[in-house]
Amino acid sequence: MHADIKKILISEKEICERSKELGRKISEDYRGKKPLLVGLLKGSVPFMAELMKHIELDIEIDFMDVSSYDGTESVGDVRIDKDLSNSARGDDIILVEDIVDTGRTLQVVIDFLYQKGASSVKVVSLLDKPDRRVVDIKADYVGFVVPNEFVVGFGLDYNQKYRNLPYVGVLKEDCY
Ligand code: IMP
Repeated sequence: MHADIKKILISEKEICERSKELGRKISEDYRGKKPLLVGLLKGSVPFMAELMKHIELDIEIDFMDVSSYDGTESVGDVRIDKDLSNSARGDDIILVEDIVDTGRTLQVVIDFLYQKGASSVKVVSLLDKPDRRVVDIKADYVGFVVPNEFVVGFGLDYNQKYRNLPYVGVLKEDCY
């Protein structure tokens, strides 16, 4: 275990097993369709790579980059830094997220994708932190619900570090 990690919340094995279950469920729900998986950079990358191996459909993938700005939590806003490479018109989009926290990012991105003409937008998130929700929004597929603690690993960062850890863990307080 990395020296900065206080405890492991979710092991690599658990993440892989859950990704397999989610991939199977998505394959059933989208049977006959060709969904576009859209990962939100950078946190979704390891989860997207794991999940898509288990989706037995003709999918395509794309990425968007969005960032929060404005500092304070109550008025935080979201900016789109990288749009999709292609038009979303008529697409069944599955947004892939690392964690749903306040829900603000998802709300902005979902509205944006519908404005671009998506037929449907659903969300799959590795983690869900419902205690922190500000916007009334829910992921359609959730890997794990986590408590209100700052977590890192499997794509999630603190100051761009720890994304490469193969598990999700809680940082030691003296690392903040
Ligand atoms: P939201 O818009 O508040 O739902 O924020 C979602 C984004 O905040 C996620 O995609 C993460 O990048 C980041 N985030 C929220 N909670 C955590 C955490 O516990 N660890 C690392 N990143 C987090």
